[in-house]
Amino acid sequence: MRATRTTRTTRPTRLTRPTRPVRPIRLTRTLGALLLVAATGAFTMGVASAGHAEPRRAATPLDQVIPAPASVKAGGTPYRITSGTRIRVDDSPEVRRIGTYLADILRPSTGYRLPLTTQGDGGIRLRLAKGPFGAEGYRLDSGAEGVTITAQEPAGLFHGVQTLRQLLPAAVEKKSVQPGPWLVAGGTIQDRPRFAYRGAMLDVARHFFTVEQVKRYIDELALYKINKLHLHLSDDQGWRIAVDSWPRLATYGGSTQVGGGPGGHYTKADYQEIVRYAASRHLEVVPEIDMPGHTNAALASYAELNCDGVAPPLYTGTKVGFSSLCVNKEITYDFVDDVIREVAALTPGRHLHIGGDEAHSTSPEDYAAFMNRVQPVVARYGKTVIGWHQLTGAGPAKGALAQYWGLDSTSAAEKAQVARAARNGTKLILSPADRVYLDMKYTKDTPLGLAWAGYVEVQRSYDWNPGGYLPDVPESAVLGVEAPLWTETLSTSAHLDTMAFPRLPGAAELGWSPAATHDWDTYKVRLAAQAPRWDALGIGYYRSPQVPWPAA
Ligand code: ACM
Repeated sequence: MRATRTTRTTRPTRLTRPTRPVRPIRLTRTLGALLLVAATGAFTMGVASAGHAEPRRAATPLDQVIPAPASVKAGGTPYRITSGTRIRVDDSPEVRRIGTYLADILRPSTGYRLPLTTQGDGGIRLRLAKGPFGAEGYRLDSGAEGVTITAQEPAGLFHGVQTLRQLLPAAVEKKSVQPGPWLVAGGTIQDRPRFAYRGAMLDVARHFFTVEQVKRYIDELALYKINKLHLHLSDDQGWRIAVDSWPRLATYGGSTQVGGGPGGHYTKADYQEIVRYAASRHLEVVPEIDMPGHTNAALASYAELNCDGVAPPLYTGTKVGFSSLCVNKEITYDFVDDVIREVAALTPGRHLHIGGDEAHSTSPEDYAAFMNRVQPVVARYGKTVIGWHQLTGAGPAKGALAQYWGLDSTSAAEKAQVARAARNGTKLILSPADRVYLDMKYTKDTPLGLAWAGYVEVQRSYDWNPGGYLPDVPESAVLGVEAPLWTETLSTSAHLDTMAFPRLPGAAELGWSPAATHDWDTYKVRLAAQAPRWDALGIGYYRSPQVPWPAA
């Protein structure tokens, strides 16, 4: 399927809503003058106010962030971060950690000390309190005296900090001192996610990415409130995680990649460092060991896993569907048990992904028999199964999740099979390939990426509704949205960035924001306003002609 270019027959879904009038925001400057500025994010060079020229900016309007907040009440005096600002935190390690994370972003660019304190009034306040926030929601209140973020759980505070970050000028992301002013518009945001699962997948098997490269991607995901990092840890071209009971998987199976480079693998300590770093950004790592197909690297490492007892050579091409574990050999299940046990032990999160896609070298009967033996193993080690949606043809275990990666043009029968599973209680993660596969070329001229699911421009990627996407699948059956990034053609962080940006923020917004905020015409303006932030962060992106970017 991945090798075939599919013709689209359906038009993109378009949800429209009336464009909101732009509300003016009142803003008091230090000189005491009251300015009325249009809330467009535009700025002009102003007069020197403290002996040096300082840009006079309108504070970013509260609704100009991505993902769009659930509810915004703009108004009142903005808060200005100054050299006297303190970051006030609850006296708890979790809140202190988030305060330190925020300070680490703000200090280099503002040049201010921004000490953390549990005392006093005003300033930037991070507090946990009971309220209607859920596990990840928060409220942000901004006024002359300060900005307060309140949440019930640390994850909510962390997401509120991302909103605060986006309300500040893009220059706040820079690592050297920048001119202010550092204004946060006045008003209140109340926010919580539409979907609990908001994921991004990184394929570290086709090309290996180092711990540092994965951390960089995690930071990019955190900015948009994504809460799951799915790592595709094994495939035909490489096995990327150390397994003590089958050591050649990593040392031999991980020794190459697409195109024949040196590959690599994560030691258990490396992997735990990724898990720890992700947790510090409130992301859960979802490990995927793909089976029974996509297993050439394992089959090459251990001859006994092959039905004929002969190990194939390592593979560095990009074909799919040619490899399979030997479903009828008992040692296969010893192998699966060992691998799942060791990977589960490294996984504090709830989920463990067992792949199950493109098992074209396994008969449907063998596939079902295999999946039905393997799913209980995942449960035995305390984890919830995720499988690509082909699992719905084999009988998902109770509580298992299916990840849909079809296209608009996927057959009605295949979609109906997924809908039947959903009716029987299988929750879905939506990753439609012709919408949120971040490795699809934007246009025929995109130098990187693949095109088997079509070209996916920014509007197409954003303009669909996860709650109504699959026929006969109600929103209540959708756990969330995930944007996969396959790496057959991608081998550097710059490659990842240029494919993920600007589509990743759209996938994040589909997962977080209420359907009522969905509107391409206003979204594209918010998206354009992110570009200076990406510039400041060193994130290269595709300058889609569909988006009204500021002049470069
Ligand atoms: C997939 O793209 N084979 C899940």
